[in-house]
Amino acid sequence: MQTRILPANGADTAAIAAEIIKHNGLVAIPTETVYGLGANGLNEEAVAKIFIAKGRPQDNPLILHVADAADIENFCKDIPAAAYELANAFWPGPLTMVLPARSCVPKCTTAGLPTVAVRCPDCQVTREIIRLAGVPIAAPSANISGKPSTTTAEHVFHDHNGKIELIVDGGACRVGVESTIVDLTEERPRLLRPGGITPEQLMEVLGDLVVDKAVTAQIDKDAVVKAPGMKYKHYAPQSEVIIVAGSREKAATYIHRRITPNDRVLCFEEELPLYADCNPLPYGKEADVATLSAGLFAALRELDDPSISKVYARCPEGGGVAYAVQNRLKKAAAFHIVNAENTVIGITGGTGSGKSTLLHLIAQHGGLVLDCDAIYHELLQSDVSLLNAIEDRFPGTVSDGTLDRKKLGSIVFQDDAALQELNLITHAAVRKEVLRRLESCSGLAAIDAIGLFEGELAGLCHVTVAITAPADVRVQRIMARDGISEEYAKNRIAAQHSDEWFASKCDHVLENNGTAEDFQAKCIAFLRKLDII
Ligand code: TXA
Ligand code: MG
Repeated sequence: MQTRILPANGADTAAIAAEIIKHNGLVAIPTETVYGLGANGLNEEAVAKIFIAKGRPQDNPLILHVADAADIENFCKDIPAAAYELANAFWPGPLTMVLPARSCVPKCTTAGLPTVAVRCPDCQVTREIIRLAGVPIAAPSANISGKPSTTTAEHVFHDHNGKIELIVDGGACRVGVESTIVDLTEERPRLLRPGGITPEQLMEVLGDLVVDKAVTAQIDKDAVVKAPGMKYKHYAPQSEVIIVAGSREKAATYIHRRITPNDRVLCFEEELPLYADCNPLPYGKEADVATLSAGLFAALRELDDPSISKVYARCPEGGGVAYAVQNRLKKAAAFHIVNAENTVIGITGGTGSGKSTLLHLIAQHGGLVLDCDAIYHELLQSDVSLLNAIEDRFPGTVSDGTLDRKKLGSIVFQDDAALQELNLITHAAVRKEVLRRLESCSGLAAIDAIGLFEGELAGLCHVTVAITAPADVRVQRIMARDGISEEYAKNRIAAQHSDEWFASKCDHVLENNGTAEDFQAKCIAFLRKLDII
């Protein structure tokens, strides 16, 4: 199929686009938020084409775009007064409302939900197309599923050339992030996705607003959420994105310490001089958040390049439109956020090497100590999704909400592949919890983990340190500490990485090869050198 591009202000553009919609074809439409991949929202066959072109999961419903606020009565029922008030205040504009659906709306538009999302976009040509077609246009953002949204006709062409009949080119989208979504089907209005209409603006009209958990945290893939789209990986370039929070100077120091030639920095225009030597990509001005929302997706698309390994990103703070930018960027980063104002020390080493000496010192100086082994055991008591994931992979190992560790141990004991799968599950859960706890840290923290590298925790640390000790000392220590035999102690040590391995992985090595006092002094000197005490 040949994909045509017509200018939004072309004399026949709206009529040609409307004709395609009427015949159940696909048209990419401009809106003030992002481009949409549009089709006749009342026709199953037309809507099915959207899912195919986009590669979109079937359980993710679409937004119905209408030309006038009054049109929602054709597609929604039991419309509360709040919906009319919001429409009055913000339509046409970047706001989507979730309302009870009438039965004329096909199941594939709503993904089988009893509700439907509706929006009247602030884009003249698109409203004209809807009017001429005589049907609402169902349109998700016009990106391939999982990729950053499209904010120019070129982006759409890149993703859908040959798959759709027409792209209506309305230039770069003004807002740049997708619409704010509010669910009005419950007792209290609920924000499902932040966007160009801010929570503050909504509060002014509604006087009340619940923020859905999917807005602020990563959602497990099997979780039940109000907006199905919020649980999928979103907006993400292929590389790992890490948000570096904190002052400009501290963030620049943090990034400069780590950056390699394969990494990029996504920053504010004001910060360009700080990254002059590392090919930074600015996406707008921190002092003018609207430029950040308008520029974010184009920048994320530019960074969607397999030759880039990591992206260090700067994120605006505060409410208003910054809230929507934070939401998109945090999702692109899978909530991997480091605070450059903090110092997070990753501490690792084999059992019995003496990590606790350093950990105690850090705790004494007010540091937050995160013992990953303890966190894992706590999660086994409290984290249902962890238990479910273990039970799904190793059926019969969980009963009455308790993990049968002996049974699980016997399965993974002689099966390396199974052990690795178990590790993937447990490492992901521990990492998520560590990230959560680090959010409340201000200043100093230590992550204590024998699997600091396997568990992908080292990336959360500002420095990593290996504690090593002679093997015979370690054997004596763990025999005394855990009341185990010499043979058992030796076996445990042999099953772990060698001191050399830990030393080769870490930024620093502290050798615990003298008296307890010697080692204490070594640890103090180390913390002083890092300017921590
Ligand atoms: O700005 C926008 O809203 C753009 C432009 C094209 O209008 N559209 C857009 O569509 O962002 P999409 O499909 O990428 O995102 C729609 C979101 C998804 O997260 C979906 O799960 C949610 O809206 N959604 C749709 N219908 C829903 C419903 N009935 N209940 C809850 N969430 C719904
Ligand atoms: Mg989308």
